[in-house]
Amino acid sequence: MSQLVDDFGREFNYLRLSVTDVCNFKCSYCLPDGYRPNGKPQFLALDEIRRLIQAFAKVGTQKIRITGGEPTLRKDFIDIIHAVKDVGSIHTIATTTNGYRLEKNAKGWFDAGLRRINVSMDSLDPKQFQQITGENKFHEVMRGIDAALDAGFERIKINAVLLKDLNDTDLPKFIQWLKQRPIDVRFIELMETGLGHEYFSKHHLSGETIKARLMAEGWLRQMPSATDGPAQNFCHPDYQGRFGLIMPYSKNFCATCNRLRVSATGKLHLCLFTESGIDLRDLLQHDAQQAELIERLHQQLHQKKSTHELHQGITGVTQHLASIGG
Ligand code: GTP
Ligand code: 5AD
Ligand code: SF4
Repeated sequence: MSQLVDDFGREFNYLRLSVTDVCNFKCSYCLPDGYRPNGKPQFLALDEIRRLIQAFAKVGTQKIRITGGEPTLRKDFIDIIHAVKDVGSIHTIATTTNGYRLEKNAKGWFDAGLRRINVSMDSLDPKQFQQITGENKFHEVMRGIDAALDAGFERIKINAVLLKDLNDTDLPKFIQWLKQRPIDVRFIELMETGLGHEYFSKHHLSGETIKARLMAEGWLRQMPSATDGPAQNFCHPDYQGRFGLIMPYSKNFCATCNRLRVSATGKLHLCLFTESGIDLRDLLQHDAQQAELIERLHQQLHQKKSTHELHQGITGVTQHLASIGG
């Protein structure tokens, strides 16, 4: 069956699948008032997820990242991992988590087939961590990261959203932390969402400032590899860990886009921003609908634009990234 390729020649082999909107943290840049259900949530059931993944696998998807909200809050999280694993051609099963349930479950998830974990950790200072996430869970998350290393996860990535006047002074702590840990810390530029312009203009900081500081301290830009995604990576001979910068406002950020997203209620998002999602759920009800589903994916891909419109100050319909998993 033919691969998913858009009108700009970009191939899509990476699916980010949100399995719930629910989150138990209150990150100030995402869900500052906590999770507020909008009616009764109708998240995709395991069978719908299985059909979706099978269809994506047939058109070339090789990597699936299970996202949220907080994906590990789903009681059947481990069954979702199994469902992805059962589709033999997916060679990387990944998740992005706030780390809250990692300590207890890292080993079980690894044994089920999960291989990549990205953990949100916005500060290495416990007080500031609480200020940003609204939760006093710093030590639990840190123990979770160690448990994941012990369980066998390699190349764990830590996501820190770069926030002016909050964690922008944390760089030395992160550098120290990476000395003996084979972990990637990625600073993500704050993206403007429906939260409003005020929060964004108060806290947005260009990743270029961190880049200049890293280079001044002897960190070297690595040649991008096919699996790097949108991050620019930096390494240093004296450190086991690496840094990454995700700078969506930089030039050509979208040129190598390789990812599609499906929301927790089964809507296809061609980009993190700029559209409200294309419903796929009606075609996830029977195994016999696979060909029709694949046809819809190919057709809709023609709508994908060359780049997002963040530069034009268009925040899109994305109220917060918890609804489509970032
Ligand atoms: P890998 O799969 O390890 O390459 O990680 P990733 O960076 O794709 O996944 P992760 O869930 O850790 O993403 C971190 C954050 O980077 C996301 O939640 C977004 O905030 C941002 N990000 C990832 N992919 C994109 C993208 O395609 N566009 C934009 N604008 N931001 C992205
Ligand atoms: N800008 C940048 N990153 C964000 N995330 C959530 N909201 C934003 C935003 N407005 C990140 C989280 C998490 C990932 C899933 O998305 O830190 O690591
Ligand atoms: Fe792809 Fe949209 Fe992300 Fe750009 S912003 S890299 S087009 S998903």
